[in-house]
Amino acid sequence: MSKQAQIKAVRGMNDILPSQSSLWLEVERVCANVFSRNGYQQIRTPIIESTHLFARSIGSDTDIVSKEMYTFDDRNGDSLTLRPEGTACVVRAGIENGLFYNQQQRLWYTGPMFRHERPQKGRYRQFHQVGVECYGWTTPDIEAEVLSMVSQVFKALGLTRTELQINSLGDADTRERYRAALVEYLSGYKDKLDEDSQRRLSTNPLRILDSKNQDVQALLEEAPSILDFLSERSVESFSRLQRYLQALDIAFTVNPRLVRGLDYYNDTVFEFINAEFGAQSTVCGGGRYDRMVEQLGGKPTPGFGFGMGLERLIQILQEQDAPISRQTSAPDVYLVSVGDLAREQALQLQVALVQAGHSVQCFMGDGSMKNQFKRADKSAAALALIVGEQEAEAQTVSIKPLRRTKTPLEQQTVAQKDVANIVTNLLESL
Ligand code: HAM
Repeated sequence: MSKQAQIKAVRGMNDILPSQSSLWLEVERVCANVFSRNGYQQIRTPIIESTHLFARSIGSDTDIVSKEMYTFDDRNGDSLTLRPEGTACVVRAGIENGLFYNQQQRLWYTGPMFRHERPQKGRYRQFHQVGVECYGWTTPDIEAEVLSMVSQVFKALGLTRTELQINSLGDADTRERYRAALVEYLSGYKDKLDEDSQRRLSTNPLRILDSKNQDVQALLEEAPSILDFLSERSVESFSRLQRYLQALDIAFTVNPRLVRGLDYYNDTVFEFINAEFGAQSTVCGGGRYDRMVEQLGGKPTPGFGFGMGLERLIQILQEQDAPISRQTSAPDVYLVSVGDLAREQALQLQVALVQAGHSVQCFMGDGSMKNQFKRADKSAAALALIVGEQEAEAQTVSIKPLRRTKTPLEQQTVAQKDVANIVTNLLESL
């Protein structure tokens, strides 16, 4: 019989293995805590949406819509797309469920997103975002609140060396006038532009500001700045945001060339960048999008939010060797038991210990005492609990410390009914 070809994961889509998942859980827990303490509620939307949703909101000239979406016809012939981002989905859900009706909303979400990009470090075809979206505020105080939450998350995770860049894209009129000025300036150097930028000159000129090409970046040094085209209202709002950030002690730089890869933004846009991380250095990006709700059929409602890439965040934490990245999944207690009566009692003890808030691993299957102790050591548990045949008869359990402790702990034998309390006290004293 010929050997079957091994089936592999789809290119650019990763398994999150047990050795990684405790860090993922911890990062997600920190985000959920920060968001809920700031008064944000979670929203969960489907992973698949109607294709029109993204074409109408993200912009048909963007890379995402023009070449990166996973789009397919389902069995009814409807065109569906695996979500490439969360914002349009939240807006769709909000309109459909009346969340924007005379209400303000502070929402957050987490989950996988899909983009058919060329995979490399920090860039995948399935990746995960946590995101925040707020609806109903036109003022920059909400922007400061949202940016402050990102900074709270980074602080709680111990992430350092991340730089916040902000910019204002103004209103539609500003961008129209700026686009014309930029096109006029760059048209004078058309032959110096790379192929991509030449194409963008007619399709999406603002995206040229984002070019990674060194020669193009050099040309842009002298290009007009969007900040000189802002209306009085946009200038005022942008400087209020900067005052709030200063009051919150959040360092930032104004980067007039910061544009985003999605077309729906107006006024404030921002990115948190970790320069040491290489080409895919943006950990978190977002901004204001006051037209999207109306564009998707709702009544005009201003929006502001961000998406944070979890793969990038976690890789940076690991590269920086942040204490949180050294998380282990070692249990508090390892239960050793020999004989069937002892195993029965060990299973009961496991329940009692878990209910008391401890993490427990119980040896299963057949194994000598020596063998079980080897496993206990390997588990890196703080304590081994031993129920041998004698202990089982007497309904007792021996407690043996497995790690060196500040004050040496002696092995002791205690009644099984008291073990949960005694373990709690011992673990506290370690
Ligand atoms: P985005 O800039 O396209 O914005 O994505 C946000 C973050 O997701 C990026 O900064 C990056 O960390 C991560 N990310 C994006 N693409 C990939 C990829 N292929 N592989 C790994 N990570 C990736 C948005 O998605 C907007 N929805 C953000 C937003 C929310 N704006 C307003 N509200």
